[in-house]
Amino acid sequence: GPLYYKGLYHLFYQYNPGSVVPGNKTWAHSVSADLVNWLRLESALDRTEPYDAKGCWSGSVTVLADGRPAILYTGADDVKNQAQCIAFPSNSSDPYLREWTKPSSNPVIRPDGPGLTPNQFRDPTTGWTGPDGQWRIAVGAELDGYSAALLYKSEDFVSWSRVDHPLYSSNSSTMWECPDFFAALPGNTSGLDLSAAIPNRAKHVLKMSLDSCDKYMVGVYDLEADKFVPDNVVDDRRLWLRIDYGNYYASKSFFDAKKGRRIIWGWANESDSSSDDAAKGWAGIQALPRTIWLDSDGSQLLQWPVEEVESLRRNETNHQGIELKKGDMFEIKGTDTLQADVEIEFEPGTMDEADAFDPSWLLNTEKHCREADASAPGGLGPFGLVVLASDDMEEHTAVHFRVYKSKHKHMILMCSDLRRVVPEIRAVHTGLWRLLRI
Ligand SMILES: *[C@@H]1O[C@H](CO)[C@@H](O)[C@H](O)[C@H]1NC(C)=O
Ligand SMILES: *[C@@H]1O[C@H](CO)[C@@H](O)[C@H](O)[C@H]1NC(C)=O
Ligand SMILES: *[C@@H]1O[C@H](CO)[C@@H](O)[C@H](O)[C@H]1NC(C)=O
Ligand SMILES: *[C@@H]1O[C@H](CO)[C@@H](O)[C@H](O)[C@H]1NC(C)=O
Ligand SMILES: *[C@@H]1O[C@H](CO)[C@@H](O)[C@H](O)[C@H]1NC(C)=O
Ligand SMILES: *[C@@H]1O[C@H](CO)[C@@H](O)[C@H](O)[C@H]1NC(C)=O
Repeated sequence: GPLYYKGLYHLFYQYNPGSVVPGNKTWAHSVSADLVNWLRLESALDRTEPYDAKGCWSGSVTVLADGRPAILYTGADDVKNQAQCIAFPSNSSDPYLREWTKPSSNPVIRPDGPGLTPNQFRDPTTGWTGPDGQWRIAVGAELDGYSAALLYKSEDFVSWSRVDHPLYSSNSSTMWECPDFFAALPGNTSGLDLSAAIPNRAKHVLKMSLDSCDKYMVGVYDLEADKFVPDNVVDDRRLWLRIDYGNYYASKSFFDAKKGRRIIWGWANESDSSSDDAAKGWAGIQALPRTIWLDSDGSQLLQWPVEEVESLRRNETNHQGIELKKGDMFEIKGTDTLQADVEIEFEPGTMDEADAFDPSWLLNTEKHCREADASAPGGLGPFGLVVLASDDMEEHTAVHFRVYKSKHKHMILMCSDLRRVVPEIRAVHTGLWRLLRI
């Protein structure tokens, strides 16, 4: 539940106050004036009612027409059946929004009606208004055994009715979590406020969380049919576009009225063992907030960490014109790699040695990264960066690249290999394919 309100950025996030083990979720709450320095406040939503006895699960914040924010979240009851619930600030003049009230009308949306599964019904989106002036939200669900972003409508944001068709559904998976729906103008880095007038040229993006990653589709929102219509439908969900190829899940975006941009925020499961989590005292981190927009032909999202993060830059180190031959390593000294911001440009001497690209690798980039690991020689690559390295290199993380020749263009594989993070050997890999612009 990210939000900009009265000069402050708010992040409401899933938190178990009693343990590092997932469960007993509440809505913890932190605020910031600059997206870099954060102040933790008291919890916004605790498990106080029968309908949220097993947890106050994920949801969204919407600023209503009168300027008041409202939280919609999923309450899980004692058998983990799910319903959508609402909460309002006790004092909406308080820019910190410290205290929230759950009205007696809760839960406001139950998993009633044909095709629904009571324990697969969660994560309401931020609301938007349609041409009829009514509010709409989408809810992630299993519908007749397949995945759907269900559509609900309301006059007053409190009393909701289900629209007879979903915003979008697909039979290539069975459930979507944390749907996110927003508009964007191709090639324009400004964000759009979904509850304001959306220009006709705008495209819409539907993001969904499944298979431990965040995927999305770009398309149009057909106002007449009240449906999202993706530009391209690929049945094989392994080929759907992804927000990120690393540990990144349950992301949420919001419109930042202060700077007129859309910001997306995701959760990174650090993939630590539960004993490591217990020793650290936490489990999971928020990835950096990123500005997100559509590329100029409106086919995919582009993103970059918010500019505020640059305020953390200190002690710049600059090297240029370094020539690296196979096996060479250049050490950058005097940098604290626990927090470094690296801009790096590689210029291959020749592209002739690039190996041929096999399109079947796209079906499982993690697997290909594992096979083409940093120590496996290739035609053009691997080359890259070694970070978080101990002096003897016993512990290190390689971020490496390989260039392949495909029919009409070159493709780059980018991987990060976390296996040399001791004491445990972890097999976590990420892969990302990009078109190389040459
Ligand atoms: C949740 O809270 C109950 C007590 O209310 C406790 O018994 C249980 O261990 C907790 N579970 C987790 C995962 O923290
Ligand atoms: C509401 O918040 C405003 C701004 O912080 C404060 O001045 C006011 O006293 C608060 N009202 C109540 C009833 O707490
Ligand atoms: C799944 O959806 C696709 C495209 O919408 C459709 O062509 C296909 O018949 C559907 N398959 C099943 C089993 O419903
Ligand atoms: C980008 O969109 C914003 C908001 O709609 C608009 O004010 C601005 O003029 C657009 N910029 C360009 C270059 O089209
Ligand atoms: C986080 O990652 C670990 C290790 O990969 C996995 O065992 C665990 O199930 C994940 N936790 C959640 C809540 O997804
Ligand atoms: C920057 O360099 C100064 C002087 O060497 C040092 O005291 C400081 O800790 C460095 N800051 C960071 C963030 O590395």
